[in-house]
Amino acid sequence: MFAFTHLFALCLGFLTFMHSRASPLTFLPFPADVQRSLPVNFTIAALNITLPNTNSTGAPMVLGQDGATGGAQLEVLSTWNSFPYNDFPALSLFGGQLRAFTKRGEWITNATAPSRGQPLGWLTSRLYHTTATDYSVVPVYGLNLAKYVLAADERADLWSLCSWKGPRGQTTVVFDVSASPPNSGYDIADCYGVWLIVIPTLPAHSK
Ligand SMILES: *[C@@H]1O[C@H](CO)[C@@H](O)[C@H](O)[C@H]1NC(C)=O
Ligand SMILES: *[C@@H]1O[C@H](CO)[C@@H](O)[C@H](O)[C@H]1NC(C)=O
Ligand SMILES: *[C@@H]1O[C@H](CO)[C@@H](O)[C@H](O)[C@H]1NC(C)=O
Ligand SMILES: *[C@@H]1O[C@H](CO)[C@@H](O)[C@H](O)[C@H]1NC(C)=O
Repeated sequence: MFAFTHLFALCLGFLTFMHSRASPLTFLPFPADVQRSLPVNFTIAALNITLPNTNSTGAPMVLGQDGATGGAQLEVLSTWNSFPYNDFPALSLFGGQLRAFTKRGEWITNATAPSRGQPLGWLTSRLYHTTATDYSVVPVYGLNLAKYVLAADERADLWSLCSWKGPRGQTTVVFDVSASPPNSGYDIADCYGVWLIVIPTLPAHSK
């Protein structure tokens, strides 16, 4: 019975995957598949779902700079190609909260609540905090590359990579580019749909 259910889920998942390739905005996970915590740390890579990929690994993502105010620093999830620093090499997911750790293993950074048309943002601060618990991961069946993709509001299919306008513009992850009014920071025609692949990192002692 288990095998049958599993096979059924696999087939359905595969169909969903095939379907989502044709029309990227229709990937809905089974509710039971949504996982709000992960027992491992991870990094994220963006994989094209609309255009052919240059490779099967995807583009490595990092927390890119997005300004600072007194006592707080803001970050956005950007490609390492557009922001070649990795100050937060480990991410984790606990109870729907997306966390980032500094190189020294310090935890002073959490993702802010997903907002349609806006980048996936983060807050680094010892004074202020964000309480967003809207993140999860969902398994992708039929894709040999990874087990989980990141979701916000249980949607794994609404992420895009967009080139930010202006000097030092980063290529940044945006949640639901089709939201209106459109964000003036990017041109929607330059955005392409991605999956945010979760890549588990090895625990410190096994390195
Ligand atoms: C895979 O392609 C992405 C996107 O073009 C690039 O950023 C990344 O460096 C490539 N990875 C490898 C291992 O070649
Ligand atoms: C997505 O595809 C475009 C065009 O093929 C390419 O320039 C870009 O590097 C790709 N991005 C990723 C994340 O693979
Ligand atoms: C994740 O990384 C942080 C910072 O390095 C570390 O304290 C924590 O133990 C790691 N968690 C897991 C599950 O490996
Ligand atoms: C991150 O979350 C933890 C626990 O939920 C909280 O103690 C901490 O203040 C938060 N930090 C930020 C910058 O949101």
